[in-house]
Amino acid sequence: MREVAIVGAGMSRFGELWSSSLRDLFAEAALEALDRAGAEQLDAIYVGNMSAGQFVGQEHLGPLFADRIGRAGVPCTRVESACASGGAALRCAFLEVASGASDLVLAAGVEKMTDGGDVTAVLATASDQELEAYHGITFPGLYAMIARSHMLAHGTTEEDLAWVAVKNHRHGARNPKAQFRREITLEQVLGSTPVADPLRLLHCSPVSDGAAAVLLCPLDRARSFTDAPVKILGSGSATAPMALADRKDPAFLEAVRVSAERAYRMAGVGPGQIQVAEVHDCFSIAEICCVEALGFVERGKGGEAARTGLTALGGRFPVNTSGGLKSKGHPVGATGIAQTIEVFEQLREESGERQVRGARIGLVQNMGGSGASSVVHVLGRV
Ligand code: COA
Repeated sequence: MREVAIVGAGMSRFGELWSSSLRDLFAEAALEALDRAGAEQLDAIYVGNMSAGQFVGQEHLGPLFADRIGRAGVPCTRVESACASGGAALRCAFLEVASGASDLVLAAGVEKMTDGGDVTAVLATASDQELEAYHGITFPGLYAMIARSHMLAHGTTEEDLAWVAVKNHRHGARNPKAQFRREITLEQVLGSTPVADPLRLLHCSPVSDGAAAVLLCPLDRARSFTDAPVKILGSGSATAPMALADRKDPAFLEAVRVSAERAYRMAGVGPGQIQVAEVHDCFSIAEICCVEALGFVERGKGGEAARTGLTALGGRFPVNTSGGLKSKGHPVGATGIAQTIEVFEQLREESGERQVRGARIGLVQNMGGSGASSVVHVLGRV
């Protein structure tokens, strides 16, 4: 396999973006990534998207998107793995360049969720239809059950959950692309509207529009596009049973553990070497479970990690310096690529007020549904 680098990135603002269509958002991010790398050549495009058919009535995204950026003729493939669609698209692009099949490949992600329709019902299609969605479960409901299991097994408290939201809003307040650029207090989280007990409004990622894109090429060509390429050191993907009831321990995300183990093995690093990470905090409990499954802390210690500042900027394992899904926003198909851009920029020392000084190795973890699919990439400064 060839070594692969990321050489350019582009991203729209995240939020309720009524004046931009699905294809406009894709084009904004894709063209920015190509421009920033000064790339003329483009051999292939992979686009993560969960549900454009249901959100905006548009399927068959590949040709539409290639044409929209003036690249009709270039193969463009839509990749779907629910909220992990972006991470899965990145992995496809990585493998295509690593295999030698293509040299310049764009990995993008886009979702337009605020244009109408029953967003909660569309998102619920990423749960088990027969065992969960049919019976009325929602995503806040699924993560509420994960939270209750975690509280029962490990003594995690509602305050621990709230600290994740407080921390990520503090980070997101420093991110110009974030949907919610405001700090929140512990009291505001604990007093916000209940959504699915014990989760409240401020424990939830919002409904968002947005797009993101990164350009990949072989490492030995990277310097012709940028002075600061970032190498993809490892890539891992895994699945777990879809329905919570089919899992041995609903409070532990096995697909996250296995995908991380695969990415660590390829990269030749362990969790102790990760200096900055973006993880999938679609609900506050998700970040707690992810930092455990990634090996940053012991099982059951994820809540303590948020409460004690271990995972805050300035802590030993800075997690979600972008603001995470919670504050930056979660246009589901775009999320995995936006997470990648945060770590890419951190490793290039481009993160301004939220820079983790001297970070050389970072990790990106993107999850589908209630954790039935997970994709992890380990990135490194060259
Ligand atoms: N975090 C912070 N503020 C939020 C928010 C969030 N997640 N969601 C909404 N708000 C704010 C809105 O900006 C609005 O503020 P304003 O009155 O000052 O304008 C207010 O709260 C009410 O917003 P509204 O859009 O009416 O909320 P809602 O009740 O329709 O939706 C949730 C709130 C939490 C139910 C919705 O955001 C949600 O379903 N989130 C989860 C999405 C999801 O499941 N993603 C997939 C994960 S796997």
